[in-house]
Amino acid sequence: MLKHDDTPIENAQIHDDKEDIASNDSGNRPFVDVLQSNLSRRKVLAGGAVAAAAGFFTPAASASLRGLGRTENIGRGNDRINREMVGFKPVAIEDVLDTRMPTISEDYEYQVLIPWGTPIQPGVTNEYAGDPSTRPTSEEAALQVGIGHDGMWFFPIDLPSAQRYGRRYRARSDEGMLCINHEFGGNFHVLGKGSPESLEDVRLSQHVHGVSVVRIKEHFDGWKVEVSDAARRITVNTPVQFSGPAASSPLLQNPAGNMPQGTVNNCGSGPTPWGTYLTCEENFNGYFGSSTLDSDGFNAIRTEEQSRYGFDFDGFGYGWYFFDERFDLTNPDYVNEQNRFGWIVEIDPFDGSQTPTKRTALGRFKHEAIAIAESSNGRIAAYMGDDQRFDYCYKYVSTNPWQESIELGLSPLDDGKLYVARYNDDGTGEWLELTIENPLLAERFADQAELLIYARVAADLLGATPMDRPEWTTIGKDGEVYWTLTNNSQRTVANAANPQAPNSDGHIIKTVDADDHLGTTFSWEIYLLAAETRGTEGVFTDPDLAWADGESRLFIGTDGGQPDGLQDQLTVIDTSKDVPEPKRLLVGVNSDEVTGFTCTPDRRTAFVNLQHPGNGNPASTNFPALPDGFTVPRDATLVLRRKNGAIIGS
Ligand code: FEO
Ligand code: CA
Ligand code: CA
Ligand code: CA
Repeated sequence: MLKHDDTPIENAQIHDDKEDIASNDSGNRPFVDVLQSNLSRRKVLAGGAVAAAAGFFTPAASASLRGLGRTENIGRGNDRINREMVGFKPVAIEDVLDTRMPTISEDYEYQVLIPWGTPIQPGVTNEYAGDPSTRPTSEEAALQVGIGHDGMWFFPIDLPSAQRYGRRYRARSDEGMLCINHEFGGNFHVLGKGSPESLEDVRLSQHVHGVSVVRIKEHFDGWKVEVSDAARRITVNTPVQFSGPAASSPLLQNPAGNMPQGTVNNCGSGPTPWGTYLTCEENFNGYFGSSTLDSDGFNAIRTEEQSRYGFDFDGFGYGWYFFDERFDLTNPDYVNEQNRFGWIVEIDPFDGSQTPTKRTALGRFKHEAIAIAESSNGRIAAYMGDDQRFDYCYKYVSTNPWQESIELGLSPLDDGKLYVARYNDDGTGEWLELTIENPLLAERFADQAELLIYARVAADLLGATPMDRPEWTTIGKDGEVYWTLTNNSQRTVANAANPQAPNSDGHIIKTVDADDHLGTTFSWEIYLLAAETRGTEGVFTDPDLAWADGESRLFIGTDGGQPDGLQDQLTVIDTSKDVPEPKRLLVGVNSDEVTGFTCTPDRRTAFVNLQHPGNGNPASTNFPALPDGFTVPRDATLVLRRKNGAIIGS
């Protein structure tokens, strides 16, 4: 989300300061000498010991993930070969002239797809095209693409057949189900005013949040939305279910007896090897508040757990709790509604009637995104960041090979172990298990369910390493994991894994797990300090989105004020090179964020999002409309293609 953005609008602060305020008072700060950590980092940047260790690693790319567009490399036979892994002509700083519209490498072209307000079933409902004098009704919004485009994934339309027929089946690259997260939209952007004045206003705000599942198809004149039974909107009011160890916990039940509903603040995402979509609930706390603030203020009733998860009397200013009692923290009938958010939710992209399922074994925190690696024996490891200042990196490992579980009708995400990372100063690390069998945790929690619901508190007790806002994770060519740490302006003392204080530009850490993703130890290095790109043509800061293509391209999207007159950008790095050399593929528009990335299986088409263009301010940009100073800017997906038809990023 935005920080130090240059185009303020009244509601920008909804997502500005509050999401990033640290709520970790655990004192987990393994400090080391700053000079020492800087020295080890320089060695690493020059191609150090940990990079060599990665070479011993078994490639984790799997047939199933190939089918999902991660690693497939299908040649059409007549493409121009791009010799370099990342060979396109980058956008130069001086090429960025008018940031009211995107700027793309001259070797690439883009098409705007599914801006906020696009009907997910063509012809069924009105489109909202950015007229500032009208807004969709909440009913219309529930049938349109939402706002706050973030994590997404393209599922080829014939993926179910591809999975049935195995590796030799080439899944289609011209049609698929696109699952896309709608992380947030501030009240000024969505409602045209700072606060809701009715339940209808709240419902409109709620219905632009959530997830869209849209069928899209490539025509001779570009990609378009298609009619589909599987297309759907999932909002904070959609029925959902809980699964895994905490599913039947009383901490997920309310005296009101209301059934579980909804998902919110859906940030990053990831696909599973079995062809489903995982959406990650991040800043869910911001939608809750207290309608009955007494003279002592909400703080007087705030529990330790509420503090740790950042609940506050006024949330991020959405005001839902004034009209929707589920979000009122002081309503005793809904005392546990807050615990129903902060999960990873599984969605079937091909079955519009499936009930989205919250996988409690993955723990409750501010889930940024998820990247799943497959070990050689078929068990899976899921790498996940908790995005807040001084929060942690997590890993989940399934007990059984995923195919076995799926064949038995069980979820590999319901039975496994959850770990949190401790980064040692010497480039090693440990995965600390979050289990009730640990006496330290058994003393604090009644059972594994409570432990998972308050996973942050459990991680504090284990001495996890507080990080500079862990955002996305992605699995590289040799099974190495890249973690974006976006920034941390509040860090006052550096440690080896977070070597800058304050850390205003962010960094990327690379970890290599011991034992084929299944172990409890890992090695790590600082892959890149964004501050070191300053003064170079490839400059970027605030890394957030990360996606590795299974060869050696690493795509990074940024979220924060960029230097040198740039806006947020998409940059590509060839990780096979000793020194990272970021190449700028795309620059977004004023005050947006570049986030979410997915490709077709042939990797000739990519999708990337421009989130909150202009922070909703028509004086800043009218994207995707051409500049007119009037039309409300709308979040949208860009379809990217290399003009010569070659693989994206090449
Ligand atoms: Fe939703 Fe941490 O970005
Ligand atoms: Ca943002
Ligand atoms: Ca961010
Ligand atoms: Ca993010």
